[in-house]
Amino acid sequence: MAKNKVTVVGAGNVGATAAQRIVEKQLADVVLIDIVEGLPQGKALDMMQSASTEGFDTEIIGTNDYADTAGSDVVVITAGIARKPGMSRDDLLSTNAKIVGSVTKQVVANSPNAIIVVVSNPLDVMTFLSWKESGLDHKRVVGMAGVLDSSRYAMFISEALNCSIKDVRAMVLGGHGDTMVPVPEYSTVNGVSINQLLPADKIEEINTRTQHGGAEIVKHLKTGSAYYAPSASAVAMVEAILLDSDRILPVCAYLQGEYGLSDVYCGVPAALGKDGISRVIEIDLSDASKKALHSSADQVRELSEKVLTLV
Ligand code: LAC
Repeated sequence: MAKNKVTVVGAGNVGATAAQRIVEKQLADVVLIDIVEGLPQGKALDMMQSASTEGFDTEIIGTNDYADTAGSDVVVITAGIARKPGMSRDDLLSTNAKIVGSVTKQVVANSPNAIIVVVSNPLDVMTFLSWKESGLDHKRVVGMAGVLDSSRYAMFISEALNCSIKDVRAMVLGGHGDTMVPVPEYSTVNGVSINQLLPADKIEEINTRTQHGGAEIVKHLKTGSAYYAPSASAVAMVEAILLDSDRILPVCAYLQGEYGLSDVYCGVPAALGKDGISRVIEIDLSDASKKALHSSADQVRELSEKVLTLV
């Protein structure tokens, strides 16, 4: 069987770590592409030289030429600048819009059948832009944020309850910004909602920490943003697509009436498989969560209208 091919655009920390995870898991051969000459080539060669020790026979190449990305099954777009301390993801809008717009065009010209997974920030707006620029069906362009935000939430829940992370399932919906929506009613330890396990003020505290989970890392690192958890989250989505597993994950999807929201990309639970999003799952939300989801989507919509004027 021919091996899968995944392109990762952007050889920075998120892109390179995602590429490493993909080859080490032997999910696909990887093309790592960046505009900086030598950067993807050097990192790819370095990773190939770990293959003997790690024991993988998938391959990775680094390139600056989109011709090498042709025929990819999945393309992960991480290109763009990252936040510095004190910056919000939205501060990245105009710079990253130009980058993501141009990257998307080159990706689709070479891999018209790929599923695109957008990771660049501000995430929901960049996913919308990439979809617009791609000309693809919206099901084939999806953004990574909910898996990351939920995985942060899960860590904070397991810490608060002093229980194994393996028993925690956490859910965060909405846009990938300060208005993201942790959903305690569907965040559980072995099926039991955290509403029954933690006092309300503790839940409030970890909700807030989750909403600022990315900024907390930026503050520590000072020169960049998180990449271990973001790359792991993007690769979980790549895996669901390549294995056609129809995993239900919180992802940034285009909405057409679901949750009372239309013509906007926003984080919701959806099934992910070889054709991208096969269905958006509508779940009953508490009034508070519903309200928070709408106000988060409103913010995304405002910037989405603006972004189309920036490319
Ligand atoms: C974060 C950035 C990657 O949440 O958005 O860490």
